[in-house]
Amino acid sequence: MSLKTQFMNMSRKPRGILGFLKLNRMNGGAHAKMADWAMSVYQGNPRKFLDVGCGGGRNLAAFLRRYPDAQGVGVDYAPLSVRTAAAKNRAAILAGRCQVVEGNAMSLPLPDDSFDLVTAFETVYFWLSIVDGFREAYRVLRPGGTFMIVNELNGRNGVGEEYEKIIKRMTIYTSEDLEAALKMAGFPRVRVVNNNNLLWMCVMAGKI
Ligand SMILES: C[S@@+](CC[C@H](N)C(=O)[O-])C[C@H]1O[C@@H](n2cnc3c(N)ncnc32)[C@H](O)[C@@H]1O
Repeated sequence: MSLKTQFMNMSRKPRGILGFLKLNRMNGGAHAKMADWAMSVYQGNPRKFLDVGCGGGRNLAAFLRRYPDAQGVGVDYAPLSVRTAAAKNRAAILAGRCQVVEGNAMSLPLPDDSFDLVTAFETVYFWLSIVDGFREAYRVLRPGGTFMIVNELNGRNGVGEEYEKIIKRMTIYTSEDLEAALKMAGFPRVRVVNNNNLLWMCVMAGKI
Protein backbone atom coordinates (compact mmCIF):
# COMPACT_ATOMS: atom_id res chain seq x y z
CA MET A 1 0.00 0.00 0.00
CA SER A 2 1.44 3.40 -0.98
CA LEU A 3 2.13 6.01 1.67
CA LYS A 4 -0.64 8.18 0.18
CA THR A 5 -3.17 5.32 0.49
CA GLN A 6 -2.05 4.61 4.05
CA PHE A 7 -2.40 8.29 4.90
CA MET A 8 -5.91 8.48 3.40
CA ASN A 9 -6.94 5.38 5.37
CA MET A 10 -6.06 7.19 8.59
CA SER A 11 -9.38 9.07 8.27
CA ARG A 12 -11.21 5.91 9.33
CA LYS A 13 -9.29 5.18 12.51
CA PRO A 14 -6.18 7.33 13.04
CA ARG A 15 -3.15 5.64 14.60
CA GLY A 16 0.62 6.02 14.70
CA ILE A 17 2.56 8.88 13.18
CA LEU A 18 0.45 9.02 10.01
CA GLY A 19 -2.69 9.14 12.15
CA PHE A 20 -1.21 11.95 14.20
CA LEU A 21 -0.43 13.92 11.02
CA LYS A 22 -3.94 13.22 9.69
CA LEU A 23 -5.59 14.46 12.90
CA ASN A 24 -3.55 17.66 12.74
CA ARG A 25 -4.61 18.14 9.16
CA MET A 26 -8.27 17.52 10.06
CA ASN A 27 -8.05 20.11 12.83
CA GLY A 28 -7.27 22.82 10.28
CA GLY A 29 -8.11 23.70 6.70
CA ALA A 30 -11.26 22.66 4.85
CA HIS A 31 -12.79 20.58 7.67
CA ALA A 32 -12.71 23.57 9.99
CA LYS A 33 -14.40 25.91 7.47
CA MET A 34 -17.19 23.42 6.88
CA ALA A 35 -17.69 22.85 10.61
CA ASP A 36 -17.94 26.61 11.22
CA TRP A 37 -20.53 26.91 8.48
CA ALA A 38 -22.56 24.04 10.00
CA MET A 39 -22.36 25.60 13.45
CA SER A 40 -23.88 28.76 12.00
CA VAL A 41 -26.75 26.69 10.53
CA TYR A 42 -27.60 25.30 13.99
CA GLN A 43 -29.80 27.84 15.76
CA GLY A 44 -30.03 26.34 19.27
CA ASN A 45 -28.22 27.14 22.49
CA PRO A 46 -27.11 23.80 23.93
CA ARG A 47 -26.34 23.36 27.61
CA LYS A 48 -24.71 20.01 26.88
CA PHE A 49 -23.45 18.70 23.56
CA LEU A 50 -21.76 15.56 22.28
CA ASP A 51 -19.43 15.29 19.28
CA VAL A 52 -19.31 11.68 18.00
CA GLY A 53 -16.16 10.74 16.04
CA CYS A 54 -14.53 13.87 17.46
CA GLY A 55 -11.14 13.21 15.81
CA GLY A 56 -8.56 15.79 16.86
CA GLY A 57 -11.10 17.76 18.93
CA ARG A 58 -11.10 21.01 16.94
CA ASN A 59 -14.89 21.11 16.68
CA LEU A 60 -15.31 20.42 20.40
CA ALA A 61 -13.07 23.43 21.08
CA ALA A 62 -14.98 25.62 18.60
CA PHE A 63 -18.33 24.70 20.19
CA LEU A 64 -16.99 25.37 23.70
CA ARG A 65 -15.89 28.84 22.52
CA ARG A 66 -19.19 29.52 20.78
CA TYR A 67 -21.27 28.45 23.82
CA PRO A 68 -19.27 29.56 26.86
CA ASP A 69 -21.84 28.20 29.34
CA ALA A 70 -22.09 24.79 27.69
CA GLN A 71 -20.50 21.46 28.63
CA GLY A 72 -19.06 19.31 25.83
CA VAL A 73 -18.28 15.63 25.47
CA GLY A 74 -16.25 14.08 22.64
CA VAL A 75 -16.35 10.37 21.77
CA ASP A 76 -14.10 8.52 19.37
CA TYR A 77 -13.22 4.83 18.99
CA ALA A 78 -9.57 5.58 18.13
CA PRO A 79 -7.38 5.95 21.24
CA LEU A 80 -5.13 8.38 19.32
CA SER A 81 -8.11 10.63 18.50
CA VAL A 82 -9.14 10.58 22.16
CA ARG A 83 -5.64 11.58 23.30
CA THR A 84 -5.33 14.31 20.64
CA ALA A 85 -8.79 15.76 21.33
CA ALA A 86 -8.10 15.71 25.08
CA ALA A 87 -4.80 17.58 24.58
CA LYS A 88 -6.50 20.14 22.35
CA ASN A 89 -9.21 20.75 24.99
CA ARG A 90 -6.99 20.42 28.07
CA ALA A 91 -7.93 23.78 29.59
CA ALA A 92 -11.67 23.07 29.22
CA ILE A 93 -11.20 19.60 30.74
CA LEU A 94 -9.35 21.10 33.72
CA ALA A 95 -12.14 23.68 34.06
CA GLY A 96 -14.69 20.84 34.23
CA ARG A 97 -16.40 21.85 30.97
CA CYS A 98 -15.23 19.03 28.72
CA GLN A 99 -14.70 15.28 28.67
CA VAL A 100 -13.26 13.10 25.91
CA VAL A 101 -14.03 9.39 26.10
CA GLU A 102 -13.19 6.33 24.05
CA GLY A 103 -16.27 4.68 22.62
CA ASN A 104 -18.00 3.43 19.53
CA ALA A 105 -20.85 5.30 17.84
CA MET A 106 -22.62 1.92 17.61
CA SER A 107 -22.88 1.70 21.38
CA LEU A 108 -22.19 5.03 23.10
CA PRO A 109 -20.91 4.75 26.67
CA LEU A 110 -23.30 7.52 27.73
CA PRO A 111 -26.67 7.75 29.49
CA ASP A 112 -30.08 8.20 27.85
CA ASP A 113 -31.64 11.66 27.36
CA SER A 114 -28.52 13.60 28.31
CA PHE A 115 -27.58 15.99 25.43
CA ASP A 116 -29.27 18.95 23.74
CA LEU A 117 -27.12 18.52 20.64
CA VAL A 118 -25.28 15.54 19.15
CA THR A 119 -22.97 16.18 16.19
CA ALA A 120 -21.21 13.88 13.72
CA PHE A 121 -18.72 15.70 11.49
CA GLU A 122 -17.17 13.74 8.61
CA THR A 123 -17.49 10.43 10.44
CA VAL A 124 -20.66 8.51 9.45
CA TYR A 125 -18.90 7.26 6.29
CA PHE A 126 -17.01 4.84 8.53
CA TRP A 127 -19.77 3.57 10.82
CA LEU A 128 -20.60 -0.13 10.59
CA SER A 129 -24.34 0.66 10.51
CA ILE A 130 -25.62 4.23 10.25
CA VAL A 131 -29.08 3.15 11.48
CA ASP A 132 -27.56 1.68 14.67
CA GLY A 133 -25.42 4.79 15.17
CA PHE A 134 -28.42 7.08 14.61
CA ARG A 135 -30.45 5.04 17.15
CA GLU A 136 -27.67 5.68 19.66
CA ALA A 137 -27.71 9.42 18.90
CA TYR A 138 -31.49 9.37 19.42
CA ARG A 139 -31.12 7.53 22.72
CA VAL A 140 -28.63 9.97 24.25
CA LEU A 141 -30.47 13.11 23.04
CA ARG A 142 -32.89 14.89 25.35
CA PRO A 143 -36.44 15.27 24.04
CA GLY A 144 -36.38 18.36 21.83
CA GLY A 145 -32.68 17.88 21.08
CA THR A 146 -31.00 17.98 17.67
CA PHE A 147 -28.74 15.52 15.88
CA MET A 148 -26.56 17.15 13.23
CA ILE A 149 -24.61 15.25 10.56
CA VAL A 150 -22.12 17.28 8.54
CA ASN A 151 -20.44 15.84 5.45
CA GLU A 152 -18.39 17.17 2.61
CA LEU A 153 -18.85 14.03 0.53
CA ASN A 154 -22.49 13.70 -0.51
CA GLY A 155 -22.41 11.58 -3.68
CA ARG A 156 -23.50 14.56 -5.76
CA ASN A 157 -20.80 17.18 -5.88
CA GLY A 158 -18.09 15.05 -7.50
CA VAL A 159 -15.90 15.57 -4.44
CA GLY A 160 -14.02 12.66 -2.99
CA GLU A 161 -15.58 9.82 -4.98
CA GLU A 162 -12.12 8.28 -5.29
CA TYR A 163 -11.90 8.13 -1.48
CA GLU A 164 -14.59 5.44 -1.37
CA LYS A 165 -12.37 3.22 -3.56
CA ILE A 166 -9.18 3.94 -1.63
CA ILE A 167 -10.38 4.02 1.99
CA LYS A 168 -11.45 0.62 3.31
CA ARG A 169 -15.07 0.20 4.41
CA MET A 170 -16.01 3.79 3.58
CA THR A 171 -19.51 4.63 2.30
CA ILE A 172 -20.58 7.98 0.89
CA TYR A 173 -24.24 8.74 1.62
CA THR A 174 -26.61 11.10 -0.16
CA SER A 175 -28.97 13.27 1.88
CA GLU A 176 -31.79 10.86 0.92
CA ASP A 177 -29.83 7.88 2.31
CA LEU A 178 -29.26 9.74 5.56
CA GLU A 179 -32.86 10.90 5.81
CA ALA A 180 -34.18 7.34 5.33
CA ALA A 181 -31.79 5.96 7.97
CA LEU A 182 -32.68 8.75 10.41
CA LYS A 183 -36.38 7.98 10.03
CA MET A 184 -35.68 4.25 10.60
CA ALA A 185 -33.78 5.19 13.75
CA GLY A 186 -36.82 7.03 15.10
CA PHE A 187 -36.24 10.69 14.18
CA PRO A 188 -39.57 12.09 12.99
CA ARG A 189 -38.23 15.39 11.60
CA VAL A 190 -35.27 15.77 9.23
CA ARG A 191 -33.99 18.94 7.54
CA VAL A 192 -31.25 19.09 4.90
CA VAL A 193 -29.22 22.26 4.36
CA ASN A 194 -26.57 22.59 1.66
CA ASN A 195 -24.22 25.52 1.31
CA ASN A 196 -24.50 27.58 -1.88
CA ASN A 197 -22.26 25.55 -4.13
CA LEU A 198 -23.46 22.17 -2.74
CA LEU A 199 -20.00 21.50 -1.42
CA TRP A 200 -21.11 20.92 2.16
CA MET A 201 -24.16 19.15 3.55
CA CYS A 202 -25.73 19.48 6.97
CA VAL A 203 -28.55 17.10 7.91
CA MET A 204 -30.44 17.94 11.08
CA ALA A 205 -32.88 15.66 12.86
CA GLY A 206 -34.98 16.43 15.91
CA LYS A 207 -36.02 14.17 18.77
CA ILE A 208 -39.55 14.67 20.02
C1 LIG B 1 -12.42 11.88 9.19
S1 LIG B 1 -12.26 11.88 10.93
C2 LIG B 1 -13.25 13.31 11.38
C3 LIG B 1 -12.85 13.86 12.71
C4 LIG B 1 -13.62 15.12 13.15
N1 LIG B 1 -15.01 14.85 13.37
C5 LIG B 1 -13.44 16.24 12.14
O1 LIG B 1 -14.39 16.62 11.46
O2 LIG B 1 -12.30 16.74 12.03
C6 LIG B 1 -13.29 10.54 11.43
C7 LIG B 1 -13.22 10.23 12.90
O3 LIG B 1 -14.31 9.37 13.24
C8 LIG B 1 -13.85 8.34 14.09
N2 LIG B 1 -14.75 7.20 13.96
C9 LIG B 1 -14.99 6.46 12.84
N3 LIG B 1 -15.88 5.49 13.11
C10 LIG B 1 -16.23 5.61 14.40
C11 LIG B 1 -17.12 4.89 15.25
N4 LIG B 1 -17.82 3.84 14.82
N5 LIG B 1 -17.23 5.30 16.54
C12 LIG B 1 -16.51 6.34 17.00
N6 LIG B 1 -15.64 7.05 16.25
C13 LIG B 1 -15.51 6.70 14.95
C14 LIG B 1 -12.43 8.09 13.61
O4 LIG B 1 -11.64 7.45 14.58
C15 LIG B 1 -11.94 9.50 13.29
O5 LIG B 1 -11.36 10.13 14.43
